Amino acid sequence: MRNPGLTFAVVAIAAAALAACNKSATQPASGGTAAAPSASTGSLLSDDEAKKALAALPAPYNTADLSNGESKFALCSTCHTVVEGGPNMTGPNLHGVFGRKAGSKADFKYSDVLKATGWTWDPQHVDTWITDPKVAAPGTKMTFAGLKDPKDRTDVIAWLMVQTGYKP
Ligand code: HEC
Repeated sequence: MRNPGLTFAVVAIAAAALAACNKSATQPASGGTAAAPSASTGSLLSDDEAKKALAALPAPYNTADLSNGESKFALCSTCHTVVEGGPNMTGPNLHGVFGRKAGSKADFKYSDVLKATGWTWDPQHVDTWITDPKVAAPGTKMTFAGLKDPKDRTDVIAWLMVQTGYKP
């Protein structure tokens, strides 16, 4: 004879596990109000602040689609945080990256090839970089296939400029 009680329990546990999974998967990765500010790390700009910062960017970034940029950054956020004081993960925290020399964040262990590029990060260099990192700097530790659509790159770079404190 089967045990309907046990079957129910197994189903209930599976459903609970699934619900827990869904919860974390649907939690917004960013979006102003979502990131709880803490003592050591900053938070993302709110939508209004981001719109204002966007308008101040140089063309063509000032007319980019921030929400597409934010959703494309999901491809990067497995390895990178952007808020001030955010942790390094597989890749370095990117706050303040614009204007910084490539491979120069003191607490991150970069590849020698990235350090040897001599680049200073500006939107154009980031565009070339994320088109295909292994072509831009053969031997890099950034194992990212590349973002082939130019509009997606412009949008994600604009989002990055806004959220990492780009200064013209
Ligand atoms: C699989 C992990 C991974 C993904 C995904 C990834 N990166 Fe990286 N990223 C790295 C690593 C590792 C480095 C350091 C590379 C090196 O030292 O050669 C890096 C370096 C960088 C740098 C240079 C930082 C510095 O301080 O010089 C930028 C800018 C950057 N990534 C942007 C991006 C963007 C934008 C995306 C998404 C479009 C992205 N990355 C996706 C791992 C990743």
